[in-house]
Amino acid sequence: MDWGMKNRLSRIINPVTKRCVMLAVDHGYFLGPTSGLENLGKTVKPLLGHADALMLTRGALRTGVSADIKVPIVLRVSGGNSVVGDDLSNEDITVNTEDAIRLNVSAMALSIYVGSQYENRTVVNLAKIIDQGEKYGIPVLAVTAVGKNMVRDARYLSLASRIAAELGAHIVKTYYCKNFRKVVKTCPVPIVVAGGKKIPEKDALKLAYNSVNEGACGVDMGRNIFQSDSPMGMIKAVRAIVHENASVKKAYQIYKRG
Ligand code: 5RP
Repeated sequence: MDWGMKNRLSRIINPVTKRCVMLAVDHGYFLGPTSGLENLGKTVKPLLGHADALMLTRGALRTGVSADIKVPIVLRVSGGNSVVGDDLSNEDITVNTEDAIRLNVSAMALSIYVGSQYENRTVVNLAKIIDQGEKYGIPVLAVTAVGKNMVRDARYLSLASRIAAELGAHIVKTYYCKNFRKVVKTCPVPIVVAGGKKIPEKDALKLAYNSVNEGACGVDMGRNIFQSDSPMGMIKAVRAIVHENASVKKAYQIYKRG
């Protein structure tokens, strides 16, 4: 792995603790102005000091985030689908790698939809972005999106995560599930866990706690932070779990303090 790739990865995953709190706000590329992201820049700005990385789209970066931030950017480079479309798996590459370089991103992120109608295109797109990333020293985060007919169980998520890793992804984003340790053990690259749809804050903190204690390097969490009644409290609480191994009880107290 070349110096540049290592340097970019070390901005995202702490090279000492091997942990990461990634704030995901890329949802607009298929959900539009989802709750909490109506004014993305305003939502994100106060949270940046507690995020190790920020995952978002090219448009959100340019219109909602100041160019002088110190937080590394994970750029969503796939899309072409929508929540009202025929099939969420119908995604393609939507950002030219040269523009990712111009935007000085620390990683590129793309979804694969294993088991869906567009499985082949999304997995081959992952390989294409990885090839581009290798050319310029930019790591790739593979998002194991779950097609509508798929079940988020360890068997499916370890299949999808391992496929992403075999194709050469540097980080895999997947979901927490029963027997999550199996997903981690069969994936040779670091895993970050998505929070998924909004759930009660204590449950989201349990999800983060279980994820890192069963081998994930951290979280790439969005809705359970920016749709919380206290996004600041939640990101601080998640950070305490991921970086200080705080208990859920202690983290929940941090969330309540805001
Ligand atoms: C869908 C994504 C999100 O980045 C991912 O799901 C994390 O966000 P959340 O915690 O809200 O699920 O890949 O756009």
